Amino acid sequence: MKLILLGAPGAGKGTQGALIAKRYGVTRISTGDLLRDAVRRGTPLGLKAKAFMDAGELVPDDLILDLMREILTDEESTHAGFILDGFPRTRPQAEGLDELLAEIERPLDAVVVLEVEDDVLVKRISGRRACPECGAVYNVYFEPPSTEGRCDQCGAALVERADDTAETVRRRLAVYRENTEPLIEYYRSSTTPVHMIDGDRDVEAVFRDVEEALER
Ligand code: AP5
Repeated sequence: MKLILLGAPGAGKGTQGALIAKRYGVTRISTGDLLRDAVRRGTPLGLKAKAFMDAGELVPDDLILDLMREILTDEESTHAGFILDGFPRTRPQAEGLDELLAEIERPLDAVVVLEVEDDVLVKRISGRRACPECGAVYNVYFEPPSTEGRCDQCGAALVERADDTAETVRRRLAVYRENTEPLIEYYRSSTTPVHMIDGDRDVEAVFRDVEEALER
């Protein structure tokens, strides 16, 4: 399975991406996670990306396309398939991905779009807490950990993401509407099936719909 997960910040791409990856035994590739890791490690990519991420802006297309080329041409990690979470985000990225997938002869099977209203997105993002050790994601309103402030899986203290401030979230949503939402039409006019999923229900209900759409 080779698919793209599209959706606004907080729509549940990471949450559903992890469930889909487990269910179908494929690799989830999140450009956001890869960039945050690069920032943490202070790599050349991380140093270039940090200011864009902190401001809620997109990291330049050429940096993202170089990163994705490196990953998608690594057959070992993606041979069973992949879920692209947070990529592509602009038309040049989508066109670059088309070229890359044609080159490696691995066409997409589907695009899954998670639809959620802005007020719900803002609440979800303000309640998000993440584990800096194992990457598990919680939500103080919707998916709280069993012990407040602690990761259920490894016990580490949970943290808020640096770009989850109210001002940055407003900018991220605007950037999504302007640059990324138009990709829904881009894929609708391609041969890849596009599945629109109501993402404003509990995690399990959303996942059931994703599964049903992918198996239809
Ligand atoms: P990225 O990390 O991709 O962030 P995002 O797109 O803003 O998405 P989020 O991670 O905020 O949300 P999500 O949809 O994954 O939701 P989640 O499952 O976590 O990108 C960050 C930055 O990196 C960008 O701003 C940009 O600067 C840069 N970047 C990344 N990719 C790039 C690219 N391709 N090009 C250029 N720049 C790029 O859920 C959110 C919360 O809600 C969690 O707390 C979760 O527990 C909860 N939740 C999830 N589902 C539900 C549900 N059904 N009901 C209730 N709560 C739920």
